[in-house]
Amino acid sequence: MKQDMIVILDLGSTENTVLARRIRDLGVYSEIHPHDITAEELKALDNVKGIILNGGENRVVDGKAVEIRPELYGLGYPMISVDYPQSECGTRLTQQPDEETLKAFLFDTCGAEANWNMKNFIEDQVELIRRQVGDSKVLLALSGGVDSSVVAALLIRAIGQQLVCVHVNHGLMRKNESESVIQVFRDQLHANLIYVDASERFLGKLENVSDPEQKRKIIGSEFIRVFEEEARKLEGIEFLGQGTIYPDIIESGTKTAKMVKSHHNVGGLPEDLQFKLVEPLKQLFKDEVRACGVELGLPHSMVYRQPFPGPGLGVRCPGAITRDRLEAVRESDAILREEFEKAGLDKKVWQYFTVVPNFKSVGVRNNARCFEYMVIIRAINTIDAMSATIERIDWDVLQKITDRILSEVPNVNRVCYDMSPKPPATIEFE
Ligand code: XMP
Repeated sequence: MKQDMIVILDLGSTENTVLARRIRDLGVYSEIHPHDITAEELKALDNVKGIILNGGENRVVDGKAVEIRPELYGLGYPMISVDYPQSECGTRLTQQPDEETLKAFLFDTCGAEANWNMKNFIEDQVELIRRQVGDSKVLLALSGGVDSSVVAALLIRAIGQQLVCVHVNHGLMRKNESESVIQVFRDQLHANLIYVDASERFLGKLENVSDPEQKRKIIGSEFIRVFEEEARKLEGIEFLGQGTIYPDIIESGTKTAKMVKSHHNVGGLPEDLQFKLVEPLKQLFKDEVRACGVELGLPHSMVYRQPFPGPGLGVRCPGAITRDRLEAVRESDAILREEFEKAGLDKKVWQYFTVVPNFKSVGVRNNARCFEYMVIIRAINTIDAMSATIERIDWDVLQKITDRILSEVPNVNRVCYDMSPKPPATIEFE
């Protein structure tokens, strides 16, 4: 089954994704393409029912005024322009279309069918994946994050044992994280899953390394090495599954974002791995990926889990990672998550975790001096992780978490709450 599509051409609007989301919410699939798309490229897209020229107020890209290629006007697609247009192009609007106007364009002018939903998406993708992969095998780095988990479940649905999942435990996972990946994928979904416990190898490489960027680079490159070693042991692998999602594609197309830290997705593998790619989620926004995971039967806790950085607890153990601090981060994080869940805060707060800095402070325990670490609790809310505000946690909840950390986590005598918004702080500490 082919789903109808509305193409949004980006003429400099800042609201392309907002518009694409609104159209998808009305049940019609929508994709964003650059303003200079050629007639051939447009015609090669499946089932295009109409085009929206999205210019916002300026119709400016990279400081230059932009227009679409004139031949596009002659292709016969219904078009509207969402901006203050300088050119003639069919049904004309001077602002973001309201709901009624948008519906009228989609369903009356373009005759699109409201057939965009996850059930249809999965059916389509299963068919497409089977066609693309044939009898070959697909290799997938399964971190246990939302995207890689949903791709794995979709590929299992499509090709079963032809999918080989590799889960690398880099020793910086949260408590029970690897165990839950094994439980869901090996035991419940009967995936062909290779589990590699590379904790010692990673922790060895990270010993005495205190520079944050250096730590990230070691974790990233070591991950690739482990993954390559596993891939070399396998035979007949032609494809690599990737959890690329739509924002990854849109964001990689913009060149305006400045790098603050090298955000590195441990699952992001180099191109010279010589595999063809299977990227079945590349059309989906994050919430659609989650809906897809639910439809595929993945547990709620896996699909709705909070974001977790690729370098894992390594960035929550500032400076050179030591095993005692890593254990303190892991245990305190588990307590925080448990208490947040009990208080219903897991559904309210965007991201929450603990950090254990690399210094000790004096305390008193059992009437004797102690010299131990500090746990910092961080709980933030954000829309896009570019800026963030802190959550005002109920005092009793904080007290309970503090009491539990101080009595259950070894080597910790102090608990603090981080009040810093982003900016100037970042969400993670490194
Ligand atoms: P910062 O610390 O930059 O974090 O304010 C913004 C969001 O990104 C997550 N984060 C990462 N995610 N790989 C990832 O996949 C990374 O290397 C990485 N570093 C930070 C962070 O948890 C927060 O949600």
